Amino acid sequence: MFEIQTSNAKTQRREGRKAASARFSFTTFAPSRLCVELFLASALAAASAQAEPGSASAGEAMWTRPFSVDGENRSCADCHTADLTAAGRHVRTRKTIEPMAPSVNPQRLSDPKKVEKWFKRNCRWTLGRECNDQEKGDFLAYIRSR
Ligand code: HEC
Repeated sequence: MFEIQTSNAKTQRREGRKAASARFSFTTFAPSRLCVELFLASALAAASAQAEPGSASAGEAMWTRPFSVDGENRSCADCHTADLTAAGRHVRTRKTIEPMAPSVNPQRLSDPKKVEKWFKRNCRWTLGRECNDQEKGDFLAYIRSR
């Protein structure tokens, strides 16, 4: 620290105030670059965790959980199957539904409007009500993880 300040004082006389302060801050931060990088990495992790608050395991549990609606037991897996990488089949229309997993179907979750539309429709049908933000976040985390 003492050396840095000494050379900084000398530099300041030689090169002027502006150049010296640039050099000073560079010299000071160089030894703690790892700290800065660790800090940035954890800040990034925190930021992305915040953007995606869902829990994949909670989403997975809810995906197969049966809800009693209109005298039937219904679950997301009824139409999409419990394996997100597999094609599903609509329980009513018997039409094939492409796999949900983005790893095999990259178009999945790429259109927020489509996701919102189907959340609304499918939650109403499966749960008898709309999903809340926490539930949607958990479903999204689960689907994204596959
Ligand atoms: C009765 C059948 C059925 C059930 C049950 C069902 N879905 Fe769907 N789901 C569909 C159909 C049909 C589509 C639209 C066709 C497609 O995207 O392949 C769809 C599309 C979606 C999409 C859009 C994905 C995208 O980006 O393309 C999401 C998200 C979704 N469903 C989530 C759920 C969740 C969560 C549940 C349970 C709460 C659920 N679905 C239950 C039939 C169903």
